[in-house]
Amino acid sequence: MSIQTLEQFITEQQTQFPQAKGEFTRLLQSISLAAKIVHREVNKAGLADILGKQGSQNIQGEEQQKLDVFADYYFLDILKKAGECCYLASEEHEDGLDLSSPSHYPNGKYMVYFDPLDGSSNIDANVSVGTIFSIYRRVSPSGELQDEDFAQTGRQQVAAGYVIYGSSTMLVYSTGKGVNGFTLDPSIGEFCLSHPQLRIPELGKTYSINESNYNQFSAGIKQYLQFCKNQDPATQRPYTSRYIGSLVADFHRNLIQGGIFLYPETSTYPNGKLRLMYECNPLAFIAEQAGGKASTGFLPILDIQPNALHQRCPLIIGSVRMVEEVLLYVKEEVELILNS
Ligand code: AHG
Ligand code: MN
Ligand code: MN
Repeated sequence: MSIQTLEQFITEQQTQFPQAKGEFTRLLQSISLAAKIVHREVNKAGLADILGKQGSQNIQGEEQQKLDVFADYYFLDILKKAGECCYLASEEHEDGLDLSSPSHYPNGKYMVYFDPLDGSSNIDANVSVGTIFSIYRRVSPSGELQDEDFAQTGRQQVAAGYVIYGSSTMLVYSTGKGVNGFTLDPSIGEFCLSHPQLRIPELGKTYSINESNYNQFSAGIKQYLQFCKNQDPATQRPYTSRYIGSLVADFHRNLIQGGIFLYPETSTYPNGKLRLMYECNPLAFIAEQAGGKASTGFLPILDIQPNALHQRCPLIIGSVRMVEEVLLYVKEEVELILNS
């Protein structure tokens, strides 16, 4: 049986760009290396003293787990040293790391935003967690970064992806030409192509939402949830409910099997809970590239104009027909707001 490693796959893809200097290839290799290190740690989490809380909070006031700090350290350290990046930003730090000064990498082309460990509150229970990454090419030619570099919308991502540390570890990514998935073979330490050209089913039967927030949802979302539960064998309803609480794991399941994930506005999180730059944008890019859809309810996630590194937005993402169904339910609310 013939295998294709991630490295071989990237090299083959890059031959289509004879002008490419190998920087993007090296950047993805760095992400893959950091992912393998986090995989190693996650897999011995029950053995070593790496479970549990770090005893500190991140910038968003969330309690940090030891593995949050570990994953953040390795992704930053490896990407920083690689030399292809002029900017790195992580969920765990208030400010991004600007490497565009003359003493660092003023010619580094790439800006990377990442959530080093997604779903980390699950780690002590041996539930799947992940890493999410989003890559932009700087717009300004070189030297210090400019406002226009930070103003790029999700649609301008040159690549995005995630790693899921699940029953097996997988790296799924897209450079805008479809989505490919690679499974880590720990015996050879390589990600191998296992899911070429992934497509999300147009319609699934799983809905995924933290329904304990029900009383805080808008009327449209409440009605949609009722629709999910109604009996209608012709449309496979009632749908089935699955909520892991690790965005990467919930998203990955829906990508493979079809389904929808929602984290709408609540009174606790009036703008939604999930973060645009390193959670919603990269997964929206993957969803669209796989034939799915991602929206806030108002507009496509990928069209949101960013204004802050840690900004939040509502997220409705998954199978195209299911997302469109939700949009019908929230349409009236959207029109009311637009006309007010
Ligand atoms: P993180 O661990 O990176 O802070 O992300 C947690 C996120 C996401 O993974 C998940 O979908 C969501 O928080 C769960 O939130 P609730 O506990 O409010 O449902
Ligand atoms: Mn997260
Ligand atoms: Mn996180």
